[in-house]
Amino acid sequence: MTKIDIKSSLEAIQKIAKINAGKDLKYSILTMGCQLNENDSEKLCGMMEEMNYTKTDVLKEADLIVFNTCCVRENAEDKLFGKLGEVKKYKEEKGTIIAIGGCMMQEKHIVEKLKQSYPFFDIVFGPHTTKQFPIDLYEIICHRKRIEDILDIDGEIIEGLPIKRDDTIKASVAIMNGCNNFCSYCIVPYVRGRERSREPKDIIEEVRELAKQGYKEIMLLGQNVNSYLRVEKEKHTPFEEYEGVNSFATLLRAVNQIEGIKRIRFISPHPKDFTDDVIEAIRDCDKVCKSIHLPLQSGSSNILKVMNRKYTKEQYLELVEKMKQSIPNLTLSTDIIVGFPGETEKDFEDTLDVVQKVNYEQVYMFIYSRRVGTPGDKMENQIPEETKHKRFDKLKELVENQIAEKNKQYVGSIQEILIEGKSKTNETMLTGRTDSNKVVVLEGSNDLVGQVVSLKIVSEHMWYLKGEIVNG
Ligand code: SAH
Ligand code: SF4
Ligand code: F3S
Repeated sequence: MTKIDIKSSLEAIQKIAKINAGKDLKYSILTMGCQLNENDSEKLCGMMEEMNYTKTDVLKEADLIVFNTCCVRENAEDKLFGKLGEVKKYKEEKGTIIAIGGCMMQEKHIVEKLKQSYPFFDIVFGPHTTKQFPIDLYEIICHRKRIEDILDIDGEIIEGLPIKRDDTIKASVAIMNGCNNFCSYCIVPYVRGRERSREPKDIIEEVRELAKQGYKEIMLLGQNVNSYLRVEKEKHTPFEEYEGVNSFATLLRAVNQIEGIKRIRFISPHPKDFTDDVIEAIRDCDKVCKSIHLPLQSGSSNILKVMNRKYTKEQYLELVEKMKQSIPNLTLSTDIIVGFPGETEKDFEDTLDVVQKVNYEQVYMFIYSRRVGTPGDKMENQIPEETKHKRFDKLKELVENQIAEKNKQYVGSIQEILIEGKSKTNETMLTGRTDSNKVVVLEGSNDLVGQVVSLKIVSEHMWYLKGEIVNG
C-alpha cells in the first residue's frame, strides 16, 4: 500500500509550535460521532498539543475550537448548529479560531448552509483532510483567510500523525477506514470513502507501543472490521504480511500475543462477513472478550433486503446459534433501526422476535433518519414519525425488561473486572467493566487501576452493577 507523505503537516506543526511558544494558548474539541471520530479527534489533539495548545473543556477560554462532526443521523446535525450559535460570541469577543471537521463536512449542502448561516468559521476540513489541519491552521494564523479543505476522494491511509489519547487504560486503534457496503439508510460510505485497511505491521507496532505505555485494553476499530484486508486481496493491492497477519482472524491472533495487553474488543463486524476463522479466533484467544457487537438493524428479511444488508432473519439467527455453540459464555450487543421506509407492523414484530430470541446484553436503538443522497431517502413509503416513535418505545420496553432480568442474574456471580479508574459519579469508588462490557463500581484502592480483579456482584442497577473484591 502506498503511504501518504505527511512531511508538510509535521513542518506546519513545528512552525505553529514556534509561533505559539510561551503564549499559554488553549484549545477545545467537540467530538460528535462514533469511536472512529473519537480516534480522529485524538489525532487532532495530538497535533494541537504539539503546536503548544493546551486542552480546556471551557469553550469561552479557548483560542482555538475544533468541531469533529458526524452526520449519521439528523440529531448529530442539530447538535453542531446549536453549538455554533454559542461559539459565535467568543469569535466576536476574542477572535477564537473556529475549525469544523469530520464527516458532515463531506456533505455539500451542509457546507453551503454553514457559509450562509454561520459564515464566521475559519477552516472547514473533512475526514480525508485531517492531515491538512495544521497546514490550514498555519495559513489562518498568518493570513486569516477562510479555508475550505475538503477532498472528494476515496480516501487514503495516513500513518505517523501525533496522537494524544484521553484514557490511560483503554485505547482504540483504527484498523481500517471507509465502507463499501452501502446499506441503503447509511451515509457513511459517502462521507468516509472506500474501504481500505492499514498494513498489519503498522497496527501490530501501534498496539505494542500502547502495551509499553501501560494500556491494558485495545479496541480495534473499523466500519466493517471482519473484512479487514479483504478489498486489498480482491483488488490485488500489495500489502505486507506481518507475523502471519493477512485477515481479521489472524490479526486477532497476533494482537492476542502482545504482552501486557489484557483485553481485546472490536467494533463493528458485519454479520455477512462473520466467517468461521473469526469465530475460532475469538474462541481461542484468551484476551479477546467474549462479548461481540453484531449489528442486526432489522429482524425482518424483507426490510433487510431493502436495507442491502445481505443476510436474512434466519441467517442472522443461525449465525448467533453457531457463535453461541462455539464460544462459551458469549454475550451479544446490537444496533437496531426502527421505522425504515416500508416497515410494516409484521416487519417490526420480526425485529422484536429476534430481540426476544437472542436476548442481547445491550441494544443501541435508533429511529430511522433520512440522509440526503442515500437510497432510503428517495423511497416513497416513509413511516410517519408517530409510528416510528411508538415502535421505538415498544422496542425500548422489551430491551429494558431483558436487561433488568439479566442484571438480576449477575447478582451473586463472580466476574473478572478490568479496573479503569475512579468512578465519574462518585470519587470514592472505582469503576471497571466485565468481559461483557457491563459497568461495575466497587470500593478499592487506586493501585488496582489497570488490573483485572475477581469481584462478587452484590447488587444491580439499570446501567451498572456493584461488586466486592473476592479475597484470596
Ligand atoms: N458500520 C457499522 C456502524 C455504522 S453507524 C455497522 O455497520 O454496524 C452506527 C449505527 O447507526 C448503525 O449500525 C445503524 O444502526 C445506525 N444508523 C446508520 N444510519 C442510520 C440512519 N439513517 N438512521 C438511523 N440510524 C442509522
Ligand atoms: Fe453504514 Fe452499512 Fe457501512 Fe455500517 S456497513 S457503515 S451501516 S453502510
Ligand atoms: Fe458519524 Fe462519521 Fe462515525 S458519520 S458515525 S462520525 S463515521
